[in-house]
Amino acid sequence: MKKLSVLLIVLLTAFSVKAQVNVLEIEATGGKTQINKNIYGQFAEHLGRCIYDGIWVGKDSPIPNVNGYRKDLLEALQALKVPVLRWPGGCFADTYHWRNGIGALNERPKIKNVFWGGTVEDNSFGTHEFLNLCELLGCDPYISANVGSGTVGEMVDWIEYMTSDDDVPMANLRKKNGRAKPWDVKFIGIGNESWGCGGDMTPEFYADLMRQYSNYAKMYGGDKFDRIGCGSNGSDFNWTKVLMEKGRNNMDGLSLHYYTIAGEGWNNKSAATGFGEDLYFSGLKKALFMDELVTKHSNIMDQYDKEKRVPLLVDEWGIWTDVEPGTIPGHLFQQNSMRDALIASSTLDILNKHCERVKMANIAQVVNVLQAMILTQGNKMVLTPTYHVFKMFTVHQDATFLPSNLICEKYELNNDQIPAISSSSSIDKNGKIHVTLSNLNPNKEIKLDVNLKGKGFSKVSSATVLTASAFNSCNTFDKPETVVPTSFKNFKKASDTKLEVTIPSKSVIVLELE
Ligand code: AHR
Repeated sequence: MKKLSVLLIVLLTAFSVKAQVNVLEIEATGGKTQINKNIYGQFAEHLGRCIYDGIWVGKDSPIPNVNGYRKDLLEALQALKVPVLRWPGGCFADTYHWRNGIGALNERPKIKNVFWGGTVEDNSFGTHEFLNLCELLGCDPYISANVGSGTVGEMVDWIEYMTSDDDVPMANLRKKNGRAKPWDVKFIGIGNESWGCGGDMTPEFYADLMRQYSNYAKMYGGDKFDRIGCGSNGSDFNWTKVLMEKGRNNMDGLSLHYYTIAGEGWNNKSAATGFGEDLYFSGLKKALFMDELVTKHSNIMDQYDKEKRVPLLVDEWGIWTDVEPGTIPGHLFQQNSMRDALIASSTLDILNKHCERVKMANIAQVVNVLQAMILTQGNKMVLTPTYHVFKMFTVHQDATFLPSNLICEKYELNNDQIPAISSSSSIDKNGKIHVTLSNLNPNKEIKLDVNLKGKGFSKVSSATVLTASAFNSCNTFDKPETVVPTSFKNFKKASDTKLEVTIPSKSVIVLELE
């Protein structure tokens, strides 16, 4: 009897492995909601070598620059179609006094960056330099105002300085400093991480303060920009509840911060390179938690705001590892691997799926900090695997999200499992359908049937893949092209509505169907 049941289990297991069919069914005519391009947003903080060295080298630098901005970085970011850029922090924002960063460069006072390594900065990158950068990139500025150590008066003066065209002192000061027209500032953040580095506040106290700051922000800025309330630290659902209960009518968006901590936790993180499959797996699993997190926060927001007037903005996210050996710990300079590319692709798929409530996200950070798009060293620049994912995913920006149903096998390790495939789909204004697919399993390729429902396609007009020889492969200053996108060929059009795709292990694919 025992032998028989063992045989049965073996047969059943063998059968179920064989029977696993991976199918993605896309409602090709079922799209209702636009994927806000701002989900592909970036974040630039005065932290380590993000601003100074990464973005700004100054006009007299031997590094090729355009009015002080690194030329290579400008070109790389222009190709990325950055829709929105958040600045000046982060924790730095609640220590930043904007008046120190305007006027003649040699008269600007220095500032000690108390949060990030105690580095002394010369304030040569300030309001003009940031807002002019946004104009060069064609992106919307997202300014984080200082609530932690600033005042309402300081904030409204800044708003007037940046956005007013009236004959008022702050607008006149801006004109005196060389900028006639106001800038088009689209978002003002009312503090950053006010539950932590931004003032260590309770949600009740912050909600009241947010109402006060927001009230005056609107008085001086009208409807020119959206006011973003500081949101929760990961799973602090009570923060969201209190903010929605007390402040929903005083803000035009609520943020959320969630970092994938590599390794055991904040006090015992792991390296960005050279890690094994256990850390590859746990990194991905923690990143996929974004789905549950956004679902739960959205459910709370739905209770107070059924019409979804107040969007959720995930304005800091990404993987946080140990810093590179030999670098200043407070500067958060980390490498970026194929694993991190998959963290980016699966997170972007999740955010696309939540596009009804999520209208912006800002990966941390754009250059030389945390899960960066770009790394620099002197005059050298490297585009990271994460950069390539963001570039591949630009096709989803402002396209209409297409609902889909994915049945797929699991990727298992050490008695734990995650779905082996991540995907999202959209249709653009020209009727082209884009499907992003990631195979999270580093050990095997996966065959997937992609079925369109409601309409067919005549061809695959483009197909690109990002993969690497190892899940921890990186682009380095010596070998900058180890992980780069290439043309993808491993698919077959089986009918007018069906595509058979073989997704390589640990890879990200974007397909265009028309
Ligand atoms: O992105 C680095 C830091 O992470 C930011 O300054 C802060 O907001 C968060 O804790």
